Amino acid sequence: MKRITIETSSPYEALIGENLLDKAGKYMREAGIKAKKAFIVSDDTVLALYGRRVKDALSAAGYAPFTLAFEHGEKHKTLATVEKILSTLCAAEITRSDVLVALGGGVAGDVCGFAAAIYLRGVKFVQIPTTLLAAVDSSVGGKTGVDLPAGKNLAGAFHQPSLVLCDTSVISSLPENLYSEGMAEVVKYGMIKNAAFFEKLEAGNADTENIVETSVRTKAEIVKNDEFDRGERMLLNFGHTFGHAAEKLSGFGMSHGEGVALGMVFACRYAEETGFLREEGLRGRLESALARYRLPALCPFTGKELFKAMTNDKKRFGDTINLVLPRRAGLAEICPTPVETCGEVMEKL
Ligand SMILES: NC(=O)c1ccc[n+]([C@@H]2O[C@H](COP(=O)([O-])OP(=O)(O)OC[C@H]3O[C@@H](n4cnc5c(N)ncnc54)[C@H](O)[C@@H]3O)[C@@H](O)[C@H]2O)c1
Repeated sequence: MKRITIETSSPYEALIGENLLDKAGKYMREAGIKAKKAFIVSDDTVLALYGRRVKDALSAAGYAPFTLAFEHGEKHKTLATVEKILSTLCAAEITRSDVLVALGGGVAGDVCGFAAAIYLRGVKFVQIPTTLLAAVDSSVGGKTGVDLPAGKNLAGAFHQPSLVLCDTSVISSLPENLYSEGMAEVVKYGMIKNAAFFEKLEAGNADTENIVETSVRTKAEIVKNDEFDRGERMLLNFGHTFGHAAEKLSGFGMSHGEGVALGMVFACRYAEETGFLREEGLRGRLESALARYRLPALCPFTGKELFKAMTNDKKRFGDTINLVLPRRAGLAEICPTPVETCGEVMEKL
């Protein structure tokens, strides 16, 4: 088992290894979580798959387990779901010395984390990610929240978990498309901060434990330097600005991972056009790495179309866009760019 300390204002550990689910309660006790009640928040699919194992593991360590499942899917990452969780917490008489457990993908983690951030002005919570995306990204770093009708992740709070338990046997058995979703973020870590990891991914030489461990270490390093997203943490948006525009243009028929994948390739094209990219052939290498994990490289929209979709809600970034562009493999930088200049470059792509 691997242990990584996430050094935020309230430090915690991420444990990564096989079959950790069955000892979840033991690891929570070891992390100093003294609660009497442990309230598991999950979606219906994940609760059916893993709820019993986690509940038994919590009971074995002396916690009284409760469960609440919401219907799976992004469309349930809402204030209504959080309200339902809060009401159920009240009914179960959960106090500030109890603990919440987010069991599932990024949606369960985000809604449970947000409920934990605001219930009684903040209670402890534990992340047990069951998708690759949640393991390598959303379970670490303390961003929690929900979508609003006006857009994704518009309401939320920073609230760090007390422990992250990542059971790699659960992740390895994910359906292929869900595994690919997470791999888009994994390839991103290699591109922005770790050339050796990128090479390993290109060659297909990394197993799930290795992938999760290196990704979590990379994210932890960035979060440590910028917990509240005012600087370096923006690096994690690599591929996301262009990717999100493509997702929007596709009417969200394109998945987030697909958007990030082709958004990263588009960022390479942008950086080639402006001379920012210093490594010849990097775009081709990225495309092959993405293909290995069944992720697309080709953007079905023109630069002009993407730019229009990006700047639709101009008030978000004013006159400047913080583009994240690659310099070479393992190194990306945040480039504040006048919106006008960005538009001129994208017109050519
Ligand atoms: N907080 C953050 O820092 C952060 C970072 C990145 C993404 N996110 C958020 O994460 C969400 C996406 O996460 P996601 O892709 O995990 O989506 P998700 O939580 O909806 O999970 C995807 C689907 O997989 C199912 N599932 C989960 N684990 C499974 C397993 N082991 N086996 C079979 N099926 C399983 C779920 O029931 C669901 O239907 C988005 O809402 C996004 O905004 C948050």
